[in-house]
Amino acid sequence: MIKVAPSILSADFSALGEEIKKIENSKADMVHIDVMDGHYVPNITIGPLVVSSIRPLTKLPLDVHLMITNPERYLEAFKDAGADIITVHAEAVNHLDRVVSQIHEMGIKAGVSLNPSTSASVLDYVLDKIDMVLIMTVNPGFGGQSFIEGMTKKISLLKKTISENNLNIDIEVDGGINEDTVSKVTKAGANILVAGSAFFSSEDPKAFVRLLKERGTVK
Ligand code: DX5
Ligand code: ZN
Repeated sequence: MIKVAPSILSADFSALGEEIKKIENSKADMVHIDVMDGHYVPNITIGPLVVSSIRPLTKLPLDVHLMITNPERYLEAFKDAGADIITVHAEAVNHLDRVVSQIHEMGIKAGVSLNPSTSASVLDYVLDKIDMVLIMTVNPGFGGQSFIEGMTKKISLLKKTISENNLNIDIEVDGGINEDTVSKVTKAGANILVAGSAFFSSEDPKAFVRLLKERGTVK
């Protein structure tokens, strides 16, 4: 099953409530929230306060993508704000196994994200403990960048490892996903599609979500 997670990074923040409604009405599956600290990535976005103001507006799962250093310090705050899944970057933590356990101890799902230059093999010894891998298909920090073609190989390799080990892990892709790139990533094995600029610039977000799912399902 292909899921679509619009990223609010490209939303109109002066009308965030309306933008969340747009996501709900589009029949998307999750709300993807990009948290950036100006250290781990060269951009600053939002914190737990904004997540908690989104929480009452939707029943959709809040998919919180932490692009921050020392994410372990903020897990509790994002969980309390209403996150359903928290994703940390493997490159941003010293003790990934511990951080994954901390997220699970709070009773929510744990994802781990990899930058384009990071090999999927860094996950070999935590793969059986996580719920989702988020493959960055652009360098994190900004919306509207172009999909990095070489990432399909990483997705395929990861999918192969997941299948060989009979694991049940989602593969989410993030960056440059649109109607033209979607089938490359889903054919490689991705099943959750983050879309920021393509979703919010679409004239008909519902048709856009349907199109991503249709194209993503063709084998
Ligand atoms: C980038 C963020 C993405 C971003 C994707 O660092 O993690 O979620 O919003 O934007 P698009 O879909 O425009 O590439
Ligand atoms: Zn993201």
